[in-house]
Amino acid sequence: MSKTPMRLSLARLPTPLWTVAGLPRGPFGDLPILVKRDDLTGAALSGNKVRKLEYLLAEAKARGARRVLTTGAIQSNHCRATAIAARQLGLGSLLFLRVPDTPPPAGLETGNLRLARLVGAEVRFITPAQYEHRDALLAEAARDGDYVIPEGGSNALGSYGYVAAAEELAAQWDASPTAILCATGSGGTLAGLTMGVRRLGLDIPVFGIVVGGTAEAFRLRVAAISQEAHARWPELPALAPADVLAIDGWAGLGYALSTAEEQADLTAVARATGLILDPVYTAKAFRALLHDPARFGERPLFVHTGGIFGLLA
Ligand SMILES: Cc1ncc(COP(=O)(O)O)c(C=O)c1O
Repeated sequence: MSKTPMRLSLARLPTPLWTVAGLPRGPFGDLPILVKRDDLTGAALSGNKVRKLEYLLAEAKARGARRVLTTGAIQSNHCRATAIAARQLGLGSLLFLRVPDTPPPAGLETGNLRLARLVGAEVRFITPAQYEHRDALLAEAARDGDYVIPEGGSNALGSYGYVAAAEELAAQWDASPTAILCATGSGGTLAGLTMGVRRLGLDIPVFGIVVGGTAEAFRLRVAAISQEAHARWPELPALAPADVLAIDGWAGLGYALSTAEEQADLTAVARATGLILDPVYTAKAFRALLHDPARFGERPLFVHTGGIFGLLA
């Protein structure tokens, strides 16, 4: 048996498992939805990324890193969480942020970017064309003392955070859910949850609702993450692309773009339940539960992965 990876304590765990009632779900009437509140892993340092960073930054510290490099979109939750966690550990950060056009004037920076700036992150704006080559860009920029984290923290080590989360979850529910769902943006959460659920011997489908890109691409990507994880920790299953339940159809206009229907559902859920979703990830994913309930059975469990600052950007 291989050693489990080193872990730092950054998240407030276990996060609560809520039972949310009052939402109409077709054949299941208003049967409640279980919601794993991973938006509550902390305040400014919150959301799903914190679970990944517990492992990634443990490795960074063990290697004696002084600065962390990573990349994402201008309102990346991952980049904000990385910058804050790094600072809490006494490390600097350099963020390569993708901007559609020209970067915002410094004084007008909002949401995640504002928080990253506040903790002193160094920011470089990059174009969508540069972002295509993000791994090479990070590798090229890295100097002695730098630790590189890929987009979304979604490599084998980062995904281990959700292998551990599956164990946390299984100790919380009274009866097994009929399905587990999460938003999928870079694949690490889906990879970790799918491996974690299988490792526990549970026969529960784990669905990743794709919020940008295609399900086909994520089947390959998540399988690749899991194969890397299996090579390092053989007790984790090596997933084939066909084992990965990535779902298309809920990305709307595409990454970080909202439709009127998405905004209306985000508002309706908030008003009916008090649960606040974010427009980029969780509102899109939650819509699968509202509009295609039959697919997920009578007792679905939604992993709320955070993203509140995107709502305020
Ligand atoms: C709020 C939120 N939810 C879901 C995701 C998707 O998780 P993953 O990148 O592990 O697919 C992200 C990041 O991409 C996120 O910031």
